[in-house]
Amino acid sequence: MNKDIARILVDEAELDRIVTRVAAEIDREYNRPGKRLLLLAILKGSVVFMGDLMKKLKTPLEIDFMKVSSYGAGTHTSGNINIHLDLQKKDIHDCDILVVEDIIDSGRTLSYLIDYLTLKGARSVKTCTLLDKPSRREVDFHADFCGTEIPDEFVVGYGLDYNEKYRALPYVGILKPEVYSK
Ligand code: IMP
Ligand code: MG
Repeated sequence: MNKDIARILVDEAELDRIVTRVAAEIDREYNRPGKRLLLLAILKGSVVFMGDLMKKLKTPLEIDFMKVSSYGAGTHTSGNINIHLDLQKKDIHDCDILVVEDIIDSGRTLSYLIDYLTLKGARSVKTCTLLDKPSRREVDFHADFCGTEIPDEFVVGYGLDYNEKYRALPYVGILKPEVYSK
């Protein structure tokens, strides 16, 4: 195990079970005539989850990316949402968008994105998150598809970072507090 990780919270086998279950739930919702699924990954944290998820989906799909931040440096949410990269697709009127996130903390990023994509004219907008920290919510928000709820701990791995590190770890682990307090 990486020396900066205090404890593994979700191991590889559990992640695989979670992704399999969430993919089946998404297929039940979108794998039917008249739907046009666009998976919209929020960079960078959701790329590992999205890559694993799309391999398990049976629904025909397209992918796109956005980069936003609700975060200053480190472990505290700022509350401001900045769009650093907008999605490539310009006309989303006939798209059923599923926003794919790594983790929901305050809920501000996803509530903002739902409004943003709805205003842009998407036919439907739903959200999918691997991890959810419900105890941290600052706005009332529930994801349509959720991998697992976790306690209020700062986690890294499987795409999630601390100052751009630890994204490639194959599990989700709790970062040792001394790593971000020093
Ligand atoms: P929200 O807008 O507060 O819900 O912010 C969600 C974003 O905060 C996520 O996409 C992550 O980038 C970041 N974040 C929140 N908690 C963690 C964590 O425990 N580890 C790594 N990133 C986190
Ligand atoms: Mg993120």
